[in-house]
Amino acid sequence: MKLLIDDANVTWIKKLLKYYPIDGVTTNPTILSRTGRPPYEALKEIRSLLGDERELHIQVLSSDAEGMVKEAKKIISEIPGNTFIKIPCVPEGFAAMQLLKEEGIHTTGTTVFTPMQALLAAKSGASYVAPYVNRIDLLGFDGVLVAKQIHQILTVYGYPCRVLAASFKNTQQMQELALAGIASITSPPDLIEEYVNNPVIYTSIQSFEDNFARVYGEGLDMTKFD
Ligand code: G3P
Repeated sequence: MKLLIDDANVTWIKKLLKYYPIDGVTTNPTILSRTGRPPYEALKEIRSLLGDERELHIQVLSSDAEGMVKEAKKIISEIPGNTFIKIPCVPEGFAAMQLLKEEGIHTTGTTVFTPMQALLAAKSGASYVAPYVNRIDLLGFDGVLVAKQIHQILTVYGYPCRVLAASFKNTQQMQELALAGIASITSPPDLIEEYVNNPVIYTSIQSFEDNFARVYGEGLDMTKFD
């Protein structure tokens, strides 16, 4: 499963890249605005941190297909590499996805709330579809179930389109999708840290160190022995 960071804060991105096997970064207009930086300045720094291979997903703001395509080309020219253009899954968006597919520009269908919306994006040539798990939960439905249903539909028909699940509020939502074989998730930075934020991990490690030190001496590790 690919694990992406759903944030544009470079301090967070640097920290997470240092420790974790991160596959990329997703942004949206809200996430970019939170940086308070000029959009391309922030995105260029993120691209340079990620290198050319990791994925960077950047969303358009236009409401018509022609404008979306224009924005997509501008984004790709400014931020080359493994960059995906996030296109909202609305009628103009599906038209834009089909046009961008012809141009060889990779798209991610975003703001997905239903399986049939995702199916339209897949048929329009999107590389990914992004169901908003927690926002679906907030509507009183089951976001994890919707993401699983989308995964099933894409798999059954063999579309070359994968789920990139987004909008999470806890690690349980992500774990359920990992169990279901979802291709990718994008997580808020603090939730990635939650994967290993459990005192029992650290007390276990401490007990190994204490037991070893009691017998062999303080401050020693396996390089100190023949
Ligand atoms: O990538 C989409 C995602 O950022 C939406 O998440 O937390 O605003 O529902 P959220």
